[in-house]
Amino acid sequence: MKIGILTSGGDCQGLNAAIRGVSKTLFHELGSDVTIYGIRDGYRGLIEGDYHVMSPKDFSDILTLGGTILGTSRQPFKEMQKTDDNAPSRLDKMLKTVHDAGFDCLVILGGNGTHKTANLLAEHGVNVVTLPKTIDNDLWGTEMTFGFQSAIEIASTVIDSIHSTAFSHSRVFIVEIMGHKAGWLTLYAGIASGADIIVIPEIPYSAKAIAKAIEKREKSGKRFSIIAVAEGAISQEEAKLSKKEFKAAREKMPYPSISYRIADELKALTGQEIRVTIPGHFQRGGPPCPADRLLTTRFGVAAAELIRNKKYGYMVALQNDKIVPVPLAEVAGKLKTVPPDGEVVHAARALGLSMGDDEG
Ligand code: F6P
Repeated sequence: MKIGILTSGGDCQGLNAAIRGVSKTLFHELGSDVTIYGIRDGYRGLIEGDYHVMSPKDFSDILTLGGTILGTSRQPFKEMQKTDDNAPSRLDKMLKTVHDAGFDCLVILGGNGTHKTANLLAEHGVNVVTLPKTIDNDLWGTEMTFGFQSAIEIASTVIDSIHSTAFSHSRVFIVEIMGHKAGWLTLYAGIASGADIIVIPEIPYSAKAIAKAIEKREKSGKRFSIIAVAEGAISQEEAKLSKKEFKAAREKMPYPSISYRIADELKALTGQEIRVTIPGHFQRGGPPCPADRLLTTRFGVAAAELIRNKKYGYMVALQNDKIVPVPLAEVAGKLKTVPPDGEVVHAARALGLSMGDDEG
């Protein structure tokens, strides 16, 4: 059996642990009946036919290694079927590579965009098994993606550390957390590290409501406030705009990111000095936490077993603490966002945290 493996899109912790989980299981169960090919830099390697045979020792000592030994790249889904003057599209080139290499199956590790392309390949007859990775946790069909728990640890550590300096200076701090258009990472890290106000895209914010929450804390004798803001946060006014209007408004926004705009709005409303901290890609780096090592290993073993049973066209997913296969067609193109009325948001509000809106 010839298996091609690739990692695509933004990296995250646990990619190598997942690669190891799939490969070790395949070698253990199929022995010399399997050859594993590493495809370099995600779909770029598949488009350009850039792959190499890997041996069992390539998968040793990588459980705790950050990043991806295969490399990765972003290859937008919308570009995959474009052609100029009847030249082969990227999809055509990928199909050719699969054919020329004789891959019996592709193992694809990725997030939302990656899954759209994985589904496209499956629709064109390629045998595909995928694993859900992203610190954003926004993939449909799985309760958790790998990378998410490691990123929570890093984002929480940042907010933990901000507490002492915020206390010393009696300051308001904004910590901007990654997550693209979803608020999972901000919500979970915010609660885990005792942020006072949490602003996520799924609950559009009102600057006045945030200012009110800060003032309420001051009146109750609190020296500082920490606001965890998702990079994808939007205001209540912006939530009323069409997609096109929103895009145009954001293009004109004179700030490097949403946190700086919120800081300015809060400065005007409260008269306070506001500091902004952005951990950025730090949240995606370094070794996976033990919980992610376990999750990736479980995902990897399940993916290998799908391959052994020739059950293709699935993503391995976590549901009710079990690893289950979910059809790729059900996953592709669907975003999993935070339910604003869900249990975790309820827990935050019940604790007295502000979600930056007008409730509470
Ligand atoms: O999808 C993971 C993620 O880290 C998002 O949280 C973030 O918006 C984006 O990738 C950053 O992308 P890039 O690495 O291309 O700057």
